[in-house]
Amino acid sequence: MNEDRTINSKKLKKEFKTFCIIGDPIDHSLSPLIQNSAFDSLNLNYSYIAFKVPPLELEESIKSLKTINISGFNVTLPHKVNIINHLDNLSDEAKVTGAVNTVKNEDGKFVGYNTDINGIITPLEERQINFKDIEILILGAGGSCRAALVGLSKKKDIKKINIVNRDQNKLDKVIDLGKGLGLRCNPLNYDDQKALGEVSFNSKLIINTTSIGLNNESSPLKSNFMSKDAFVFDIVYRPVFTNLLNNAKEAGSNIIFGYEMLIHQGAKSFELWTDMKAPINVMKKALFGIFGEPK
Ligand SMILES: NC(=O)c1ccc[n+]([C@@H]2O[C@H](COP(=O)([O-])OP(=O)(O)OC[C@H]3O[C@@H](n4cnc5c(N)ncnc54)[C@H](OP(=O)(O)O)[C@@H]3O)[C@@H](O)[C@H]2O)c1
Repeated sequence: MNEDRTINSKKLKKEFKTFCIIGDPIDHSLSPLIQNSAFDSLNLNYSYIAFKVPPLELEESIKSLKTINISGFNVTLPHKVNIINHLDNLSDEAKVTGAVNTVKNEDGKFVGYNTDINGIITPLEERQINFKDIEILILGAGGSCRAALVGLSKKKDIKKINIVNRDQNKLDKVIDLGKGLGLRCNPLNYDDQKALGEVSFNSKLIINTTSIGLNNESSPLKSNFMSKDAFVFDIVYRPVFTNLLNNAKEAGSNIIFGYEMLIHQGAKSFELWTDMKAPINVMKKALFGIFGEPK
């Protein structure tokens, strides 16, 4: 009892802060779970909630968040690009990526960051992938592909990044972005399965940045499209084992899970907001409480 009171009075001395995530749909977001578990573990009087914000309500919602002086927030689909029009400033990385997933209230000004870049790059660094002279295959040309390219542009001597996407226009734009960042990027024909199979088999790193898999759809990459020494990263995190990752497992390739991106983008947001080191293991444990630790 006494001990409880001590903890409570210690907590009450600390500042209250509120954070949130905005998106539409938002019901299934796991960000409140991972951020609140991180705040609790460090005894911070901070809380994090989810707000459904339809596209037409974005501007009004941002004004309201400013009025209540919210400390920071995450941004998810469909607002990652349009939010830029409603911010006071952007980090250099967010500017280059053209997308924002984290906003920090800096003395009343809303500043946009892109921590999806960390979400993609940190799991690769944890595996100590040697980028020198490797070929990489990226599926998709949306915001996450752009974040991947910005992150990969900091790695030296990548031989080539092949990118395949359904919409040719978007593909051309990300190829231009990659080239502008100094990467050797090459577009692939979406309908040429044979070429895709060959390129895929020669890739040391394969990253799926499309939504394929969210609804248990089959991946265009079959198990014979992957080599044993490849790293196969699916940024879709639910289900934990997407069809792509099941195919990678069958091929004997190294697997990188979508939840790893979720944790590391969230950890970077946490660090931007709090200037404290994120309790990664606490955040992971909270996630595994929902869908179990993948074996
Ligand atoms: N793990 C994490 O923390 C994390 C973080 C961010 C995003 N994600 C997930 O990553 C996925 C992509 O996010 P994003 O922000 O990059 O989205 P985005 O900007 O909307 O891009 C979506 C991409 O997926 C492609 N795509 C969608 N449905 C497809 C289909 N049926 N067949 C082929 N291609 C399809 C789109 O191709 P077209 O250009 O041809 O339409 C586009 O390249 C989402 O599922 C999201 O939930 C995960």
